[in-house]
Amino acid sequence: MTAGKRAVAVLISGRGSNLRALIAAAAADDYPARIALVLSNKPEAEGLEIARAAGIATLVIESRGKARAEFDTEMDAALKARGIELICLAGFMRLLTTEFVQAWYGRMINIHPSLLPAFKGTDVHARVVASGVRFTGCSVHFVSPEMDEGPIIAQAVVPVPPDATADNVAEAVLEQEHTLYPQALRLLAEGRLVIEGQRVRIRP
Ligand code: GAR
Repeated sequence: MTAGKRAVAVLISGRGSNLRALIAAAAADDYPARIALVLSNKPEAEGLEIARAAGIATLVIESRGKARAEFDTEMDAALKARGIELICLAGFMRLLTTEFVQAWYGRMINIHPSLLPAFKGTDVHARVVASGVRFTGCSVHFVSPEMDEGPIIAQAVVPVPPDATADNVAEAVLEQEHTLYPQALRLLAEGRLVIEGQRVRIRP
């Protein structure tokens, strides 16, 4: 049953395990979104295979050597041409222009492997372990022009034991990501998220 479901594009650059979790969730009859397109900026992204195996349309728009504005304009046109309503960034490792972000504001979400606003950016788990914090986790947030700073929709917490390594923290956080991201997309697709400044209210 696809009638009434919101058309989602998942943007990836690599492995695609969050993509896999979103595809699995969207397979349920009562899920309010369908993955209509998987778009990668890298032709070698393993996630493209996951999409193909699930019978989902894929598109590669190479970003290498392309100006940011040119890449984003091309992507925006491709998304509109396919009737995409919502965007999930899932390990999409490319900064977006302010113009693109503003055009999709409120309709584009990202998952980040830390408890934002702590540990923005890359190499998160090594920095988490080195910092000595006892808890980390993951965050799903609306994408705003400043990296990893948009209004937070949902978070999950993961303990960091004293003998933790970056690898085992990454594994534990990723497991939480796979539950959290489909839950957050469900809320977005149901139209239950209200952005109030930096806060997100969830309508019952
Ligand atoms: C995930 O851990 C995601 O949170 C992170 O990249 C990984 C992608 O894994 N995203 C970022 O760091 C974005 N700043 P996946 O390709 O297996 O979903």
